[in-house]
Amino acid sequence: MTAKYRVAVAGCGAMANEWVRYALKRDDVEIVALVDLRRESAEAMNARYGLSAPFFHSIEDAISATGADLVFDVTVPESHYGIATAALNRGCHVFSEKPLAETMPQCNGIVAAAERSGKTHAVMQNRRYDPRIRSLRRMLTDDVIGRTGYIGASFFLGPHFGGFRDIMKSPLLLDMAIHTFDQARFISGADPVSVYCQEWNPPGSWYAGNASAICIFEMSDGSVFAYQGSWCAEGAPTSWEASWRIQGERGTAIWDGIGMPYAEIVDADGPEGKFVREHQRVDGGEISMNETFHAGCLEEMFASLAEGRAAETDCRDNRLSMAMVLGALESARRGCKIDIGEYMQQEGVLQPS
Ligand SMILES: NC(=O)c1ccc[n+]([C@@H]2O[C@H](COP(=O)([O-])OP(=O)(O)OC[C@H]3O[C@@H](n4cnc5c(N)ncnc54)[C@H](O)[C@@H]3O)[C@@H](O)[C@H]2O)c1
Repeated sequence: MTAKYRVAVAGCGAMANEWVRYALKRDDVEIVALVDLRRESAEAMNARYGLSAPFFHSIEDAISATGADLVFDVTVPESHYGIATAALNRGCHVFSEKPLAETMPQCNGIVAAAERSGKTHAVMQNRRYDPRIRSLRRMLTDDVIGRTGYIGASFFLGPHFGGFRDIMKSPLLLDMAIHTFDQARFISGADPVSVYCQEWNPPGSWYAGNASAICIFEMSDGSVFAYQGSWCAEGAPTSWEASWRIQGERGTAIWDGIGMPYAEIVDADGPEGKFVREHQRVDGGEISMNETFHAGCLEEMFASLAEGRAAETDCRDNRLSMAMVLGALESARRGCKIDIGEYMQQEGVLQPS
């Protein structure tokens, strides 16, 4: 019997393992093609998981030879636009690794191709599928700290990857900050309005491009989101989820990205008229999820197809997180504050070649 979803996996590198392992848990998915620039990577993938999927050099050939109707794009960032538009234009749904693409016209082009084709394009934002971030978000939606004025995220780690990140122009902003910026939108429920950013490459950096950045975003709810990060920070690392402080009118929510979030709020029963008020601690409640992280995001993407609705990380939504990344890069390049709405429109739409 033919499976409900015939999947072509594009990119058989490190991250594709997460995707293939999840796909193999579903009985409605068949992996019908493996695509890579390097045949050895696909052969190793077949061997590792006991598959016998045919190998292709191009996604176009893979789709026409196998009738794939869903593409997992787990290639490097610079290939995302080409793979996404080729697959959408051939009537496939696309689930893609982050980032959506590398430029705003490319992101706009993917959204346009998805709208033209009526197919889904959704992006892996695995850090949304974490019970702890959902607990933090619930504290805000339940109005525990009141209206938000400030969201701060600190991200300091020193990974020595090797590979494509070492030679990218802006590895921190383009390859990593998309997670933290998307998390900020997810936590706050607000969208970006403007950004000012400075990025640089500090002494001792092992990256060719800028590995540190500071960004100030104005958000649609009137709050300010401040991001400070580095991917070449040796010692005292933060979590990969970043370390968060959210300031509300009645208190502060804290999540160090490791344990559970909590808040400290003004104690309504405390004595009035004190120079510094008394506070009480409110712990973020547990949230139960069937699947988390990569598997959680993939579960949501498949659920959105089954239910005929946009996925939480649909390309139309993800374009706003990408606009934070690309607007920040534009701000750093021009040395001025960027209006994100204007920037997204001005950049236009890249048509597939
Ligand atoms: N969500 C996360 O937490 C997370 C973590 C790591 C990587 N990623 C993302 O996953 C993607 C892949 O990263 P990786 O670490 O697996 O990289 P990788 O270099 O290990 O693998 C990428 C593979 O894609 C292949 N490839 C490149 N261009 C191609 C093309 N045009 N057609 C077909 N195959 C092509 C390469 O040959 C390689 O085998 C990137 O977009 C990266 O940003 C996401």
